[in-house]
Amino acid sequence: AARRPLIAGNWKMHKTIAQTQAFIADLCARPLPLDDVDAVLCPPFTALAAAGAALAGSRVGLGAQNVSWAEQGALTGEIAPAMLTECGVRWVVIGHSERRAMFGELDERVKEKARIALAHGLTPIVAVGETAEEHAAGIALDKVRRQVRAAFDGFADDEIARCVVAYEPIWAIGTGKADSPEEANAVMGAIRADVPGLRDARILYGGSVKPDNIAAFVSQPHIDGGLVGGASLEPASFAALLEGAR
Ligand code: G3H
Repeated sequence: AARRPLIAGNWKMHKTIAQTQAFIADLCARPLPLDDVDAVLCPPFTALAAAGAALAGSRVGLGAQNVSWAEQGALTGEIAPAMLTECGVRWVVIGHSERRAMFGELDERVKEKARIALAHGLTPIVAVGETAEEHAAGIALDKVRRQVRAAFDGFADDEIARCVVAYEPIWAIGTGKADSPEEANAVMGAIRADVPGLRDARILYGGSVKPDNIAAFVSQPHIDGGLVGGASLEPASFAALLEGAR
């Protein structure tokens, strides 16, 4: 792809503080191609402060896996954007399919979260994707287009341009069955064409990305990197993803 590649590791509910520190020490001791590729780690909330300290002065970025739609308030269990930026967080995954499916996250909330993230200088990584049933029914693009339009409803083009979109077919997440690079590229190109603000924004593919397939994805014109779960959990694998994406 023409844009600078980005590899974002979404650790989901994995790694304690100690495990996060050990990962970062190992990763940062390796030669990483950070002149050519952007790297972001998204640990759980409890490890963000330690990760921010460990990554201070490093070019590896820090992301969160979620953020509240509100600045503060009576929202038990939620995390406000200022709490993230204080830890050194600069990126945030919004609307991951697991949050949509298991925590009732609706398009309206995804939009509010993207908006508040931008207001705090956080780069939203807005995740979208179709279910296996929608894929089989041939309505993947309809679904994804609707999710993307809803997430950016009312946003100016220059605001959308500061966001990242992650296209993750739900059936490909954690299954070892990645989408084909060509098919993913077609969906992603259609999203880009549909939303003018996304013309120069990065669009990531997610769903069983591994060191041995990332290069094939990134070689597609509309695929600017990966949102990676399982293969981001080991330093050697994460480093190999960066090499594959350069
Ligand atoms: O956010 C990451 C995705 O859900 C992909 O997960 O790489 O383990 O398939 P995976």
